[in-house]
Amino acid sequence: MKLISANWKMNITPSQTKEYIIKFLPLIEDVKDREILLCVPYTSLCIASEMLKGTNVKLGAQNVYYEQKGAFTGEISVSMLKDLGVSYVIVGHSERRWIFGEDDEAVNKKLVACLDGGLRPILCVGERLDEREAGLTYKVIETQIRIALSSLENYTDMIDIAYEPVWAIGSGNPATPEDAQAVHRFIKNVLEDLNKNYQGMTRVVYGGSVNVHNAGEFMKMPDVDGLLVGGASLDPKTFSQIVKSF
Ligand code: 13P
Repeated sequence: MKLISANWKMNITPSQTKEYIIKFLPLIEDVKDREILLCVPYTSLCIASEMLKGTNVKLGAQNVYYEQKGAFTGEISVSMLKDLGVSYVIVGHSERRWIFGEDDEAVNKKLVACLDGGLRPILCVGERLDEREAGLTYKVIETQIRIALSSLENYTDMIDIAYEPVWAIGSGNPATPEDAQAVHRFIKNVLEDLNKNYQGMTRVVYGGSVNVHNAGEFMKMPDVDGLLVGGASLDPKTFSQIVKSF
């Protein structure tokens, strides 16, 4: 099933989460043929989890730490998320990488922890503008995937991947659907190369300046298996239109 996901980033308080979900659920209640996911801030997980129980909307977190428990002030473990009914977690978002210094090795440890703990990770990959201009897009993405999945080669079916070109995030300047298609096909080729038994269960979703006008165009591409939406997911009506755009 296609995956249409919101990433609220550091927006929307717990009380605003309640208002959002009250408005959002009736708008998408008939949608059964695609997976709908809200990746909310940690502080909203509790209320969202209560409100989404028994609905067609899944709950995701935006980050996780790789240790199981202990003296890691400010961090959140896989089991804490699982206990709240979280099904997905975004790992290695470019904002984590470039603002908080998360490297490919840390991303790998987080993926190991998620798969050990039964949480489905959405691994984010994508090139910066300077890398794209230097013709390094494919090399950067292949390196990110190979390091992130090292020792996990046999588990490629248990993750989803978001292709989010860094220059397209929050810029109003999305990749073209054709560019996204080419990179998504390449990502699937890398997965096939990594795992000879790969079953093709990894969805490769696109993120970066997705809006109501372009969402349907991305979804026409054969290897675009969904969307990860930042800014345009902050309004429940707009996000419901994106969910129903194809
Ligand atoms: P925007 O949709 O705001 O460009 O953000 C994309 C993103 O980073 C989703 O994870």
